[in-house]
Amino acid sequence: MRLFLSTLLLASRLVSAEDGSAAWLRYAPVTQAKNSRLLPAAIIALNSTKSSPVYTAGQELRDGIAGIFSKELNVSTQARRTSSAVIVGTLTAYTNDYGDLEDAEDLEEDGFFLSTEQDQVVIVGHNERGALYGAFEYLSRLAQGDLSPTSFISNPQAPIRWTNEWNNLDGSIERGYAGPSIFFRDGFVLENVTRAAEYARLLASIRINGIIINNVNANATLLTARNIEGLARLADAIRPYGIQLGISLNFASPRDLGGLSSFDPLDPKVDAWWMNITTQIYAKVPDMIGYLVKANSEGQPGPLTYNRTLADGANMFARAVRPYGGVVMFRAFVYDNHISPANWKADRANAQLEFFQHLDGKFDENVVVQIKYGPIDFQVREPASPLFGALHNTSTAIELQVTQEYLGHQCHLVYLAPLWKEILGSDLRADSRSSKVKDIVSGSRFKRPLGGYAGVVNVGTNSTWLGSHLAMSNLYAYGRLAWDASLESEAILQDWTRLTFGLDQEVLDTITDMSMKSWPAYENYSGNLGIQTLTDILYTHFGPNPASQDNNGWGQWTRADKASIGMDRTVKNGTGNAGHYPPEVAQIYENIETTPDNLLLWFHHVPYTQRLKSGKTVIQHFYDAHYEGADTAQAFVRQWESLKSKVDNERWNHIMFRQTFQAGHALVWRDSINQFYHNLSEIPDESKRVGNHPYRIEAEQMSLVGYKLYSVNPFHAASRHTAIVTNSNSSAGIATANITFVSGTYDVAVNYYDIIGGKARYQLEIDNRTIGKWTGNLEDKLGHAPSIYLDGHSATRITFKGVEVRHGETVRITGQPNGMEPAPIDYISFLPPGVVD
Ligand code: GCU
Repeated sequence: MRLFLSTLLLASRLVSAEDGSAAWLRYAPVTQAKNSRLLPAAIIALNSTKSSPVYTAGQELRDGIAGIFSKELNVSTQARRTSSAVIVGTLTAYTNDYGDLEDAEDLEEDGFFLSTEQDQVVIVGHNERGALYGAFEYLSRLAQGDLSPTSFISNPQAPIRWTNEWNNLDGSIERGYAGPSIFFRDGFVLENVTRAAEYARLLASIRINGIIINNVNANATLLTARNIEGLARLADAIRPYGIQLGISLNFASPRDLGGLSSFDPLDPKVDAWWMNITTQIYAKVPDMIGYLVKANSEGQPGPLTYNRTLADGANMFARAVRPYGGVVMFRAFVYDNHISPANWKADRANAQLEFFQHLDGKFDENVVVQIKYGPIDFQVREPASPLFGALHNTSTAIELQVTQEYLGHQCHLVYLAPLWKEILGSDLRADSRSSKVKDIVSGSRFKRPLGGYAGVVNVGTNSTWLGSHLAMSNLYAYGRLAWDASLESEAILQDWTRLTFGLDQEVLDTITDMSMKSWPAYENYSGNLGIQTLTDILYTHFGPNPASQDNNGWGQWTRADKASIGMDRTVKNGTGNAGHYPPEVAQIYENIETTPDNLLLWFHHVPYTQRLKSGKTVIQHFYDAHYEGADTAQAFVRQWESLKSKVDNERWNHIMFRQTFQAGHALVWRDSINQFYHNLSEIPDESKRVGNHPYRIEAEQMSLVGYKLYSVNPFHAASRHTAIVTNSNSSAGIATANITFVSGTYDVAVNYYDIIGGKARYQLEIDNRTIGKWTGNLEDKLGHAPSIYLDGHSATRITFKGVEVRHGETVRITGQPNGMEPAPIDYISFLPPGVVD
């Protein structure tokens, strides 16, 4: 009976796993693996303590092998000599029980040795978590049907491989798109930490070793006695996976929580306060990994308030955690968000070097300066931050963003490994020697004791973790690259795809093709040539709004005017930022001729008519790229459609919905950005597409009853700048028009706006035939940061395919407002086969 029950439980776990909760740890059956002679007969895990990662490894091997091979194995924690077993343990435990293991001599901290060559599978970790990593590696191979004998050591390139979770204590997540927090609610750590443990399991499988659980914009009340108890609960939950907990601190806590009159880092009372609170935390969480600090940035308090240096601030925390082996990650994301756009020499991109370079060597040994990959803020294209090349006597880590804050909020497919690889592979040529970012943050280039990776992930309670199944390739890739940045993006993606969707070749090829095209596509239909993403930086960072970049103190300027565009960051003429790079690289960026096209507008201010190396003008490149990128997004829909019979319905439908949304929103992006620059520069599109939409019926040109015109702001978020909204919030509006297109079969697309605060209902009819009905409820289905306005965030499209239409018929849309949503409509497109408009 027990066996029956556990089989049943396992089966149900695997079935329900298709909601995404199992992510890449599905352990789905692999048919060709079944009769393998390599199938082990027992599992020996050399540690019986339940909180030990080695014990976890034993359990994981049991579950994994049961899933993949349908074979139930016993896990023993007693060493014994037996053939055909999987033995997992630390090097010390293994050698104590089984004698020396020469092959494992070169193991380093967290590393593992895996051998499947003999009749026994040997998995040995340098430490406990290394053993668990080895077990996950073995299972990953099995789950991918790879049973070939192997024997190798794998060591991490860097000791710090953490995630940052921007979770607030009230349960919300800053820049999170997958529901509320798995750590907090209503001001406190959750009582139920099951989901946190499940997350730790996922992270352990990609060899992440630390989680900073709360937002960098930190709340001092995290440090109350009740929450410190909560931290202990969370740390206990994630410890069996070899993951250590860390927290973000609010610099002003001694004042705001402790009641002191200051938070001056050189005030002995302040120092003592931090020492004391740190001791209290370590009493409950003895293996706390350390602190993360955002100071003097975007309104956060910090040492500069007291004319102390950032190093003074960082070192205060470093002293507090040092006795416990803790690390302080001090963020380099420090800048003044009130700089004057009138000053052409001002440049936010200069801030990192200005704030940190003179402090090189002044940080304590257990401080790591955590640097965002580019000088601004997770844009679709940035050069590597020059700070990586400037700190030679300071340990550094790179901050990457898994959550797609500026890159489509997980509603657009953007596989990020190629972007990260480009930065990690950038050679900054410090002292005219190879100085790749990956070698700097690993600690090897400047011989630093610490260094590594911080990934802003922001998983939520959504079963898919990130709100989108396909976005999980980014989390997977983050862990893999943090371990070994030399891996190829495509190879990582394919491992993830096999583990997530199975071994079907067509599924593999299709997801590979879509994902590898996705970052270039997103860049094409958002901001090109290094101009930044061009999303609305003053609101939700989701839809297009290029004008939001300029004329404010945030310093994400494009300097676009009627004739020219781009930031002049040259030393010769501009902000001098190019000169922040070591000379060999500085020289490349200083000159237009040697600056790569994709960073041209990052470093140079040029006329729209400037010729690129491709021979195109800047403006024509903008137009063409936007059409190209949006076309690629349309193709993703067809590509995903082709996998219908090969992917379970639950995930297929979920992804189909998102790809369809992306295809529509890519058109919003395309038209919006093109309209904006066309309007500004007045330079026509050589291919006459921009501003020319022969397949559209503008809503404002239809006959309206109960609807009125509405000027959309920003203007370019509406076709011909105008939409319609119902006259009142209660009565339906009707818009009708005569169809003047030739009779035939069309895809009929309606562009409308889906704002929060209401769920308008729509009905589309042609003569008396109902073509479709829908509700404006994307806010429930998508999870991107919503908008209360008609703008580039809320603009969206619904398409009805293969509609028979006769010349002279009447098209009618009835919009029933709801709440504050006035059933807004922009236009209807009648698209003959193959046309996208
Ligand atoms: C961005 C982001 C903020 C975040 C900040 C940071 O500006 O929009 O939400 O707090 O980065 O990284 O500190």
